[in-house]
Amino acid sequence: MDFTVVRQYNFPTTIRFGAGVIRELPDHLASVGLSRPLLVTDPMVAKLDFFADIRRQLEARNFSVEVFSEIHKNPVKSDVLKGGDAFAATNRDSIIGIGGGAAMDVARAIVLRVHHRRDLFDYDDLIGGDIYVTGDVPYFVTVPTTSGTGSEVGRSAIISEDDTHRKRILFSPKLLAKIVYADPLLTMELPPFVTAATGMDALTHNLEAFLAKMYHPMCEGIALEGVELINGSIAQAVLKPDLESRSRMMIASLMGAVAFQKGLGVVHSLAHPMSSLLDTHHGLANAVNLPYGMRFNIGGSEGKFGRIAQVMGLSRHDGEAVVERLFAFNREVGLPVRLRDIGVREEHIDTLADLAIADFAHPNNPKPVSREDFKKLYTEAL
Ligand SMILES: NC(=O)c1ccc[n+]([C@@H]2O[C@H](COP(=O)([O-])OP(=O)(O)OC[C@H]3O[C@@H](n4cnc5c(N)ncnc54)[C@H](O)[C@@H]3O)[C@@H](O)[C@H]2O)c1
Ligand SMILES: [Fe+2]
Repeated sequence: MDFTVVRQYNFPTTIRFGAGVIRELPDHLASVGLSRPLLVTDPMVAKLDFFADIRRQLEARNFSVEVFSEIHKNPVKSDVLKGGDAFAATNRDSIIGIGGGAAMDVARAIVLRVHHRRDLFDYDDLIGGDIYVTGDVPYFVTVPTTSGTGSEVGRSAIISEDDTHRKRILFSPKLLAKIVYADPLLTMELPPFVTAATGMDALTHNLEAFLAKMYHPMCEGIALEGVELINGSIAQAVLKPDLESRSRMMIASLMGAVAFQKGLGVVHSLAHPMSSLLDTHHGLANAVNLPYGMRFNIGGSEGKFGRIAQVMGLSRHDGEAVVERLFAFNREVGLPVRLRDIGVREEHIDTLADLAIADFAHPNNPKPVSREDFKKLYTEAL
């Protein structure tokens, strides 16, 4: 390791974590002088009881509350523009993103949009757009209601182009929430499929972050602990949910996102094109690709796989044992283990491989991935 190279490590924001903590939200907003929040969520969450409760609690304190929920499953630019217009038209003073990764990402992109009026994708991080993020941003709070993406502690929003569905990343440290309310009670009604798919996304974050090639021992420690937490709680959280398992999943998903500032890898690059091309749920795409991608990574990372096997409590401490465990996880929580079971066909593979090689996640993979490798991996998983 070259210790003459200077590296920068950033850790997130204030996190309030625990059952019932969402009740603190009105007091918190009042304490920072805010009273006109825009609640950004998705159309499903907007209909749930806990969402109505959050709204009621704010209105009971005479806050003026507006809700924006017109967002797609894989959010697109026009969702963000509409949300930005709603913010301005209703004279809001803050943004609360409540929901899964999709809702929180749109909320974060609206935070950017309010005072940054160039074309939204001029701010794309991959073309250096973060340099334009120079202005103020409205006060931003996140409230996760799934345990998967960890977007609540993120600085980026993944938004797709309306026509091509290509995913673009908006990034700036200014887009970090000022405070996160991580209340596991909000996830108690999350259906088994979403719990499983989002939970496997969180596991993928922790595993890929642990293996990613950047030197970041702090993130590696967090990632390993995240793997251990998910290993011990995902089955319970999906099959017989209780507060303990759902709480462990919530903190582990948040840890995954803290850890993946170290980088992600081949699995996310396999998954992203499936959402763009086939509208596959992000967590589900990761879940199915995870064992295949991890098998690809064993060579050269045997020591790290040994440590993963250890925290997973496996009897054999080798990479193949970890891969077998990942297949078993998918079966246990009711997810498919083949791409053909989620709508991928052989004729998709070339396009998927083109998109995967252009994806932003794999350059941090512990070993290089070529377009041919992506084709092979999709074919193996088919
Ligand atoms: N910003 C990031 O760092 C980052 C990282 C990974 C993924 N993402 C993005 O996150 C999105 C996926 O997020 P997700 O996996 O959380 O899924 P999601 O936000 O699409 O939510 C999944 C489903 O669960 C429902 N739901 C949410 N909370 C619920 C609850 N408490 N009870 C019942 N139903 C509930 C939603 O309405 C939705 O139908 C994708 O758009 C992806 O691109 C962002
Ligand atoms: Fe992810």
